[in-house]
Amino acid sequence: MAGALRGEVAIVTGASSGIGAATARELARRGATVVLAARREQQLEAEARAIRREGGEVVVVPVDLASADQLSGRVGRTVAELGRVDVLVNNAGVSWSTPFSASPAEDIERVLRVDLLAAVLLTRAVLPAMLERRRGSIISVGSLSGRVAMEPLYSAAKYGLRGFSLALRRQLAGSGVSASLVSPGNIRTAMTSHRAGDLPGPEVVARVIADLVEKPRREVVVPRQHYLIAWLEQAAPSMADLVYRWRHWSPVR
Ligand SMILES: NC(=O)c1ccc[n+]([C@@H]2O[C@H](COP(=O)([O-])OP(=O)(O)OC[C@H]3O[C@@H](n4cnc5c(N)ncnc54)[C@H](OP(=O)(O)O)[C@@H]3O)[C@@H](O)[C@H]2O)c1
Repeated sequence: MAGALRGEVAIVTGASSGIGAATARELARRGATVVLAARREQQLEAEARAIRREGGEVVVVPVDLASADQLSGRVGRTVAELGRVDVLVNNAGVSWSTPFSASPAEDIERVLRVDLLAAVLLTRAVLPAMLERRRGSIISVGSLSGRVAMEPLYSAAKYGLRGFSLALRRQLAGSGVSASLVSPGNIRTAMTSHRAGDLPGPEVVARVIADLVEKPRREVVVPRQHYLIAWLEQAAPSMADLVYRWRHWSPVR
């Protein structure tokens, strides 16, 4: 397919729905061959069919990113077969809102594995070849919860991912490989299906991600109005505490 990313190979994790599926479609529209990674094979195949119908090239990799073995085995094999990776979008994620004191240890481990460790390990897997070619983009999907402390476990993962991406960007300066972070507020996907109100669609984030491939940036918060609460958290955390209590107060946390 013609487009600015023609001939590039892009891995998108969490591509079976929401932001990941929209990102895969957007990257394919801009010419990239996309590798769709997630657990639900049927959804991945449906997304792949939609991309092929538009003329795009796509490879499906069913994988549970909570499993380090599957991650290195299945994704590693695909990377070897394709010969190279130009773009990695670390998007797969799970949210978590059970009060921390009641969160089972195995769920804590799973959330950290999917939301943080998988991104770190996948980046480690593709980075050496990118550095050798002096070309590549690593884009991680954080969250406003990585700028503003909200749910302890989810924020632990997303603050961690943010720190990883920002520090990696500094370490990679001048190498030809970029590291960018997207920090979305609430977006209309399965993750926010319980929320009422009019939320922006995942295509908004997908376009930002695809733009970051073409023009890397340190971090983009989407939608833009959330820069204000991120600033408040940084500049006046006590005030942010009050806003949090007003919006989220409940007797048992
Ligand atoms: N929606 C929002 O408001 C919002 C806001 C801020 C940040 N985000 C972030 O955006 C990213 C995408 O979320 P979304 O909103 O698009 O939600 P979503 O539609 O639920 O997508 C989550 C994706 O992650 C994949 N995933 C979950 N566990 C996985 C595992 N163990 N192995 C492999 N893939 C796994 C899911 O695929 P399978 O179930 O098929 O495995 C799915 O494709 C996440 O990192 C999320 O934290 C979302």
